Amino acid sequence: MVTKNIQGIDVPEIGLGTFKLIGKECEQIVKLALNLGYRHIDTAQEYKNEREIGEAIKHAHIPREELFLTTKISLLNMEADDVIKSTERSLQDLDVPYLDLLLIHWPNPDVDIEQTIEAMLSIRDQGKALNIGVSNFPMKHLKEVNDELAAPIFCNQVEYHANLGQFDLLDYAAENDLMVTAYSPLGQGKVLEEPLIKELALKYDKTPAQIALRWLIEQEQVVVIPKASNKAHLEENMDIYDFVLEDDDFYAIDELPKDQRIVTPDFAPDWDAV
Ligand SMILES: NC(=O)c1ccc[n+]([C@@H]2O[C@H](COP(=O)([O-])OP(=O)(O)OC[C@H]3O[C@@H](n4cnc5c(N)ncnc54)[C@H](OP(=O)(O)O)[C@@H]3O)[C@@H](O)[C@H]2O)c1
Repeated sequence: MVTKNIQGIDVPEIGLGTFKLIGKECEQIVKLALNLGYRHIDTAQEYKNEREIGEAIKHAHIPREELFLTTKISLLNMEADDVIKSTERSLQDLDVPYLDLLLIHWPNPDVDIEQTIEAMLSIRDQGKALNIGVSNFPMKHLKEVNDELAAPIFCNQVEYHANLGQFDLLDYAAENDLMVTAYSPLGQGKVLEEPLIKELALKYDKTPAQIALRWLIEQEQVVVIPKASNKAHLEENMDIYDFVLEDDDFYAIDELPKDQRIVTPDFAPDWDAV
């Protein structure tokens, strides 16, 4: 598995997203993905699938250190006690001694971020999470934790795909060696309908999904976590290392309108302008 080195840690560039994978289906897909060579799994307390992912990991018999496992603390668990209790529960459900990455799922304006971070750091100090980070943090919030609080942020996981820009974050991530995890990297399927992406798929004899993912992983600091629920998609999404986008094609995707945000629940923060 090809990795990106972030803050000295090798992170598999392609992970499996597991939002909406639940129950037996989730367990089977994660097992299959691990068999196919996936070594990076993304989950969250909200997804209600940590137990099934734990079962899949247990049966795969992969040395723990080969796996990069992320979970996210729910919006409602941001107070210090809840951070600790809910993370302990995640570890129990996932049946692992530690997480590679523990994220704040969404900024919560009702809870002082300093207490959330302090609790996450105490988990890190106990070796139960190797790295901490955030998700859905606009620049203002990210700078507050990374610069003002000097918290050791490893990653900001955000919606990022050919139809949505993350320009300021990418510059900041490169300057500060942060990982940008691109969620919904296929735009939940919408990017695959983009005429340019389809045209490039024909040109490179690849699929639209492979073009969309290749464009992302060719960028500094960026890793991707496409969700897939069948073998063909799982295989396809990993098979993106036998071609390179020509500069003109890469920049043509860059030039597509970048204002089509998909994931924006009513508790979402004020997003950065794109
Ligand atoms: N931090 C956050 O707030 C947040 C928010 C959203 C998502 N996420 C994470 O990011 C992951 C991915 O995002 P997402 O699930 O929203 O969307 P996505 O990965 O952009 O798209 C998933 C959709 O694309 C389809 N697909 C996958 N591979 C394909 C292929 N090769 N060809 C054609 N279609 C393909 C899947 O179909 P099948 O299922 O049929 O294979 C599914 O319908 C999530 O699962 C989750 O882990 C995080």
